[in-house]
Amino acid sequence: MITVKNLSKNYGERVAIENLNFEVKKGEVVGFLGPNGAGKSTTMKIVTGMLAASSGQVLVDGLDTFDHPLETKKKIGFLPEFPPLYEDMVVEDYLVYVAKLARVPEKNIAENVYMALEATSLLAVRGRYIPHLSKGFRQRVGISQALVSQPDILILDEPTVGLDPKQVSQIRELLLSFKGKYTVVLSTHILSEVQATCDRAIIIDQGRIIAEDSIENLQKNIMGKQQVFIKVLRNQDQVVADLKKMDLNMSVNKTADQIIVELPSGKEDLEQISSKIVQLNAGLVEFHVRSQMDLEQVFLQLTSKENPS
Ligand SMILES: Nc1ncnc2c1ncn2[C@@H]1O[C@H](COP(=O)(O)OP(=O)(O)OP(=O)(O)O)[C@@H](O)[C@H]1O
Ligand SMILES: [Mg+2]
Repeated sequence: MITVKNLSKNYGERVAIENLNFEVKKGEVVGFLGPNGAGKSTTMKIVTGMLAASSGQVLVDGLDTFDHPLETKKKIGFLPEFPPLYEDMVVEDYLVYVAKLARVPEKNIAENVYMALEATSLLAVRGRYIPHLSKGFRQRVGISQALVSQPDILILDEPTVGLDPKQVSQIRELLLSFKGKYTVVLSTHILSEVQATCDRAIIIDQGRIIAEDSIENLQKNIMGKQQVFIKVLRNQDQVVADLKKMDLNMSVNKTADQIIVELPSGKEDLEQISSKIVQLNAGLVEFHVRSQMDLEQVFLQLTSKENPS
C-alpha cells in the first residue's frame, strides 16, 4: 500500500532523514516510533505529499506521489503535527470546509461529514465552536478532518500528544476502532501507545530506521530475558530439581521461600514450566512473570545517543 524507497531529506546542511526504506501493507496499523527530532514528522509530510523529498521515492498503491499528487493525496487522510483548526468555526462547518478543499464531490459532502463525525464520536458537539472544545475533542476534530475524504490510509502525527490520560485512552480506543477499516501509520514517542494500538513498529532515530518488527518479535528478540517468580507450598527442592532437568534454555535458582527461573522471553516455555509444577502437585500459589527489560528500556537503549535538535 505504501512503499518508501531510499528516502532522504535535508534542510540545508541538516540531514532530517537518511535513506529510509519501509513498506506498509493494506490493513496494517504501524507505529512510527522515535524520540524528538528523529524525523517522524518529516517522513509523514513527505509520504502525504506535503513536503518534497531531497531524494528517494514514495509509492502509494504503486503510484509515485511526486508524479501523481492528486490521485495519491486522495487515498490519504492526514493529521498533521499542528493541525490548522479554524478558530472561529463550528465543528461541522469546518469539516464541510475541509471536504471541499479535499475535492469531495458536492453530493457526497453531507454524508462524508456525518460519517467522519460519527466515527470520531463528535456528533454531539457538531454545532459547537472548535475553540470551546477541550484539547481531546479538538484532537478528535483533527482526526475527523483526516477521515472526511473517506481515504484508505490514515497518517496520524502524534495523535495523543498533550492529552490527559483519560483522553489518551479515548483516542486509543478510537484508533483501535479503525483496525480493519483503514491502513494506519501513527507516529509517537510513547511506547505504550505502540504496544496498545499497533501491529508493527518502525523505530527511527536520528533520521535512520534502527529497528522494524512486529510488537511481539520486538519484545521477544530485543527485550531479552524474563524472570519467573514461583512459590510452592511443598516439595520445593523436588520442583527445583525437576525444573533443572527440563530441556529448556533457563537457569533455576531458589531462595528461602521462592524459586526464580530466568529464560528467554516467550510464552511456550512458561506453559511447560507451569504444567510441570502442577504435575508435581507441589501446591503452586504464585507464578509471577517479569520481563527484565520493558519496551521503554529497549527504546532508550536503541536510541540512547543525544539528538542534536
Ligand atoms: N523546517 C525545518 N527546517 C530546518 N530543520 C528542520 C525543519 N523541520 C525539521 N527540521 C529538523 O529535522 C529533524 C527531524 O525533525 P522532525 O520534525 O521530522 O522530527 P520528529 O521526529 O517529528 O520530532 P518531534 O518528536 O519533536 O515531533 C530535526 O533535527 C529538526 O530539527
Ligand atoms: Mg514531529
